[in-house]
Amino acid sequence: MARMLKTILSQTLAAEEAASLYSSFDIIGNVVIIKIPEALAAKKKLIGKIILDEIKPVKSVFAQVSSVKGDYRLRGLEHIAGEKDTLVEYKEHGCKFKVDLINTYFSPRLSTERLRLANLVSDYEVVTNMFAGVGTFSIIMARMHSHCKVFSIDINPAAVELSQYNSKLNGVESRVISILGDARDIIAKETRSQSDRVLMPLPEKAHEYVDCAVQALKDRGGIIHYFAHVKAIGKKYAVEQSLLDAKSAFSNYDTEVHFSRVVREVGPRLYQVVTDIYVHK
Ligand SMILES: C[S@@+](CC[C@H](N)C(=O)[O-])C[C@H]1O[C@@H](n2cnc3c(N)ncnc32)[C@H](O)[C@@H]1O
Repeated sequence: MARMLKTILSQTLAAEEAASLYSSFDIIGNVVIIKIPEALAAKKKLIGKIILDEIKPVKSVFAQVSSVKGDYRLRGLEHIAGEKDTLVEYKEHGCKFKVDLINTYFSPRLSTERLRLANLVSDYEVVTNMFAGVGTFSIIMARMHSHCKVFSIDINPAAVELSQYNSKLNGVESRVISILGDARDIIAKETRSQSDRVLMPLPEKAHEYVDCAVQALKDRGGIIHYFAHVKAIGKKYAVEQSLLDAKSAFSNYDTEVHFSRVVREVGPRLYQVVTDIYVHK
């Protein structure tokens, strides 16, 4: 559908205008979210209508009017065409999800990373997902590994409600434990020293929670997937920067870095990165 969208926009808009929209849309189920540059603001509704009319499965088009912000990591959306409903069905890696595009965080751009991490899990692992959103990472792991159990924590009540719903939808509700609260409190009070693996998919703030992630690991230690944002002049340098950043964040611990990669570019010379780091306790 992404290719179709590009073709349609290039048929209707000037080449430069269309090019400015190419990498700026997300397709989530039958909803398109598009970032429209200031210079094209006057054509916002037209762009919405073209997408809606020309691409059959699309039922709604929203313009993204703010970057992701706040504790719940929500993006501002403006409805520009079609249905206004922001509760959307989405499929990924054999799982079904209901996501709320206004009240919860969700990005299809993490799909590759979700599969990569799920492939690293082994069958009887216990996992803590500290910033779990609507349950995507957690549910994919639980579906792919029939005895894997995941503590799936989020501070946003709307996200936890959907995580519970999605866990049932995928038949993993007995093994994905959706917990509402601040990961720091929940780990300290309820889930400490139980996990083989910890996910920290909150790149803006993960560095503040390193001690909690380590606390969640079993006493023999385990793997932490540490997400961060780093500045770099190119992708190759972003990986180098990522390794330095992770080493610094875990400098108080006995660690082995297993792997690091760029998840995606999130701004000019700004990259979301992830490092897999083994912590001995
Ligand atoms: C970037 S989103 C990641 C969501 C999910 N892992 C995904 O990929 O869809 C970060 C999530 O962390 C949650 N969050 C922020 N601070 C938190 C905290 N202190 N404890 C638990 N969850 C938190 C937000 O509500 C948000 O859903």
